[in-house]
Amino acid sequence: MARFEGMTAIVTGAAAGIGGAIAMQLAAEGSTVFAADIDGSALQHDAPGIINHVCDMTDRQQVEAMVERMVADHGRIDHLFNNAGFGNLEETPDIQDENWEKVFKINVTAVMYAARAAIPHMRRQGGGTITNTASISGVAGDYGHTAYNASKGAVIQYTRTMAIDHAIDNIRVNAFCPGLILGTRLTGMMTPEVQAMWREIIPMGRGGTADEMAKVALFLASDAASYMTGSIVIADGGITAHTGQPNLVKFVKELMAKHG
Ligand SMILES: NC(=O)c1ccc[n+]([C@@H]2O[C@H](COP(=O)([O-])OP(=O)(O)OC[C@H]3O[C@@H](n4cnc5c(N)ncnc54)[C@H](O)[C@@H]3O)[C@@H](O)[C@H]2O)c1
Repeated sequence: MARFEGMTAIVTGAAAGIGGAIAMQLAAEGSTVFAADIDGSALQHDAPGIINHVCDMTDRQQVEAMVERMVADHGRIDHLFNNAGFGNLEETPDIQDENWEKVFKINVTAVMYAARAAIPHMRRQGGGTITNTASISGVAGDYGHTAYNASKGAVIQYTRTMAIDHAIDNIRVNAFCPGLILGTRLTGMMTPEVQAMWREIIPMGRGGTADEMAKVALFLASDAASYMTGSIVIADGGITAHTGQPNLVKFVKELMAKHG
């Protein structure tokens, strides 16, 4: 099934991780893809349909030039995947202005730069989709994730605003919220102990994969989601389905096994 045959897409943060998987799945389904990333040395896609494009998404001129290039070379922009992003750990008294601004610039402002450049073309051509990679960190708090939580919450709200503003233009705007995704740079930095702590809080008992996230992203951009806009889709193995209460059933069972 080639859901994206003859279409064009821009995927940001596409050198690796979730963005890399989105770019590869789109190309495998027939799309021409600009795989955009700031890290030119890591941007090494070698698949038919993928055009590696070095772009700093926090630089307005570079973003606008990329969108114009796609339209000049390929006539249209059907799908925009705003995926580039990162966070850091700082409790409020320790926040450094430059770190806060850096996180907001890539997680929120870059989304606006790309959407602002793409929407007039989508309008002109009769529609399109924008799919934002948010996070479960945008729907609940995490210890010490101050700027990241605030920025991912912002991109969720921004997704809803764009969705209602541009429904009339046949532009659907959705976001998805990964939980812990393995095989990305984030997990590369995790010790086995930290990964074990994560597994403990994931009801499905495992992290997700970039490929699983890409399937969610492609679904949201595909015609199968034709009546979805402003949707925030959680894909986290059940983490946010949990109130955070301790597992008392497990505790009681362990107690009974110990004491009979
Ligand atoms: N990995 C996870 O567990 C997880 C969980 C929830 C949400 N997310 C979100 O998913 C998205 C992708 O995360 P990932 O884990 O695949 O990350 P990753 O670090 O593996 O990939 C992110 C890519 O973005 C690129 N990038 C960074 N700054 C950029 C800039 N200014 N311009 C262009 N590209 C830039 C990086 O070079 C990198 O290739 C991010 O928005 C992240 O917040 C990830």
